Amino acid sequence: MKAVVIRKFGKPDGLEVVDFPVPVPGPGQLQIATEAVGVGGVDAVIRRGTLVAYGFKEGHLLGSEVAGTVTAVGEGVDASWTGRRVWAFTGLSGGYAEQAVASVEDALPLPDGMTSADAVTLGGSGVVAHFALDRARFAAGETVLVRGAAGSIGITAVQLAARGGAGAVAVTTSSEERGARLRDLGATHVLDRSGEGGSDAPSGFDVVIDVVGGPQLPLFLDRLNSNGRYLAVGVVGGQPPADFGMRLMVAFRKSLSFATFSSDTVPGSDRQAVRSSQFADAAHGDLRTVVHDVLPLDQAALAHREMDAGTVFGRIVLVPEPGKNGVCGPT
Ligand SMILES: NC(=O)c1ccc[n+]([C@@H]2O[C@H](COP(=O)([O-])OP(=O)(O)OC[C@H]3O[C@@H](n4cnc5c(N)ncnc54)[C@H](OP(=O)(O)O)[C@@H]3O)[C@@H](O)[C@H]2O)c1
Repeated sequence: MKAVVIRKFGKPDGLEVVDFPVPVPGPGQLQIATEAVGVGGVDAVIRRGTLVAYGFKEGHLLGSEVAGTVTAVGEGVDASWTGRRVWAFTGLSGGYAEQAVASVEDALPLPDGMTSADAVTLGGSGVVAHFALDRARFAAGETVLVRGAAGSIGITAVQLAARGGAGAVAVTTSSEERGARLRDLGATHVLDRSGEGGSDAPSGFDVVIDVVGGPQLPLFLDRLNSNGRYLAVGVVGGQPPADFGMRLMVAFRKSLSFATFSSDTVPGSDRQAVRSSQFADAAHGDLRTVVHDVLPLDQAALAHREMDAGTVFGRIVLVPEPGKNGVCGPT
């Protein structure tokens, strides 16, 4: 089968389309003919070689999120899965391929009317947005800031906060055009990456959902209201300064909370329940997914160049067979 591996760590050109053995489903696993593959930020991090210390090697087959049709099941899996269209998490490898395997516990049938491109745009990121707001104890009427809102986590977080009755949903983004698109999804105030702009924006926020991290994180800690909650869910801008916690101590009397959040800490059954509900919402048009671009699988390097250039709004999807099952262009 066709697959994309990292021939050489570093630039996108180090990705190579190769002939790879078809994976055989082990006990508890499904084999899936992929229709759509999500291109995630973590794929770019692995490709750059940043995670070599964690055991990633050249030759690694990238990709963690696929949607397609089950073609075979492993030992112990109900045969009725065969032929079903599913979304699945494949771990940190195996997705950029014509066939993938995933544990049946990490797979979810797609509702009628949901495209595989939409599934890989929402499947992994939607639950992060949901549980981040949940862990932040977000309640109707509160003000929310989503930092790094133009990615697939932020796009869902903005919609969920708006739908949950937020008093205001501010976002950070790098351009007016992106700000307009985020307003269309439910943002009420648009700030630049430093948190400036949006003259009528609230001076403080009850909840901050931060996908960016990086050196400017303390600026946003300062924007918390008393009893405010700050959830760090990503580090696309790098690590924050080592002494950022000082800001919390200086503001001791505001009773602020800072937390990291990883969806790995949410029980799998809870993640699946939320994912299932979000898929149903997306199929009914009640939750929007943003597919930035749909590219053939063998153009994975182009997808990574776009990621590195910072031009992606939403998610890029790779398709082994362009045009199949209506997966042929951005939505
Ligand atoms: N917590 C979890 O359970 C979990 C699960 C999966 C992934 N993640 C993490 O979430 C992150 C990826 O999320 P995503 O796909 O939604 O994000 P993304 O698309 O990679 O980035 C979101 C937005 O952040 C802005 N941005 C990028 N670099 C920036 C910088 N240096 N400074 C300020 N803003 C910057 C960009 O928007 P603008 O250009 O518009 O500013 C970008 O579109 C990764 O860190 C990943 O490890 C976390």
